[in-house]
Amino acid sequence: MTAKTLGVLLVSVMALFTAFYWLTDTQRRDARYEELQAELLEYGAVVFGPPTDEHPATANCAQCHGPDGTGGQVGDTGVQAPNLHSRSLYEKLQGNPDYVNLVIRYGGVVVSGNVESLMPAWSTEVGGPLTIEQIDALTALVESWAEETGREAPEEVPDTVEAGAEVYQTAGCAGCHGANLEGAGNFPNIQNIGEAPLTNEDLPTPISQEEQLIADYEEDPRMMLERWIRDSANNYNDGQGTGMPAHPEGQLPDDALQALITFLLDQTGDGGG
Ligand code: HEC
Ligand code: HEC
Repeated sequence: MTAKTLGVLLVSVMALFTAFYWLTDTQRRDARYEELQAELLEYGAVVFGPPTDEHPATANCAQCHGPDGTGGQVGDTGVQAPNLHSRSLYEKLQGNPDYVNLVIRYGGVVVSGNVESLMPAWSTEVGGPLTIEQIDALTALVESWAEETGREAPEEVPDTVEAGAEVYQTAGCAGCHGANLEGAGNFPNIQNIGEAPLTNEDLPTPISQEEQLIADYEEDPRMMLERWIRDSANNYNDGQGTGMPAHPEGQLPDDALQALITFLLDQTGDGGG
């Protein structure tokens, strides 16, 4: 064998070895990543609760959001803690990739602007009980739930009172107007909204386009509610905030909005309907 052949052989073997090592190393890195991700989710599930004998001290998000995170009642307040496997959460994450992390750190005020929201702030930064590591693990867990739902084909929301009642809870309306539309403080009671709109007499923040709102309701209550829910400030208050947040299409798709309005128009009187 000549020295030249030997040289070529040696270089080829080295190249093959490098390629082989590099390839399997990526696989090792991927495998390690998956492993860490799985550990993070597992830790997140422990912090989420419910507490067990093995892990008695957890944040116990489960007491409100249910043991599997599909939503539940907050004690006997009548308020519903939302389903964390929801499409609406997935959509909020598309708009703001930090959304889940921010809600967990700073609480329900991030969801609705309601400073009295029953969803607490958890971060030690603001006096809460959870460390950054615990919040990161919870964020990964909740995001994995929302993303799983997001990957499924979106289900058309049927235009029924029942489906609308569910939208009322999941879209965050209940966080301000109460589980039974009864209102509280600056958030008005809307239990009679199927009969009449609220006018400046009942609105905590009087609106400048009251006449327009009344005329719209008389012409077509569905249209008035659509305009109010989508953007009350721009449609009925000359662009000034009303205390009620806007609900753009990305956040509340049209089929969900129509079902929601069907539910609202069914509300005629004192909580019955
Ligand atoms: C005392 C009850 C309660 C506890 C405990 C609680 N939550 Fe909440 N959570 C709520 C309520 C109520 C809302 C709705 C907030 C609103 O509309 O003001 C909410 C909203 C959320 C949202 C936003 C959902 C959305 O669709 O926008 C996330 C994410 C969330 N909670 C995660 C958690 C995690 C993680 C924990 C545990 C660290 C936790 N929550 C503990 C009551 C609770
Ligand atoms: C952050 C709290 C908050 C959330 C979330 C919220 N609202 Fe409101 N809503 C308000 C406030 C405050 C007013 C009164 C505005 C005013 O005084 O001008 C109001 C008013 C209303 C009215 C009365 C309009 C009229 O003149 O008849 C309706 C109907 C209504 N909201 C429905 C909803 C629905 C449906 C949702 C969910 C998609 C929702 N709200 C979410 C705070 C909220």
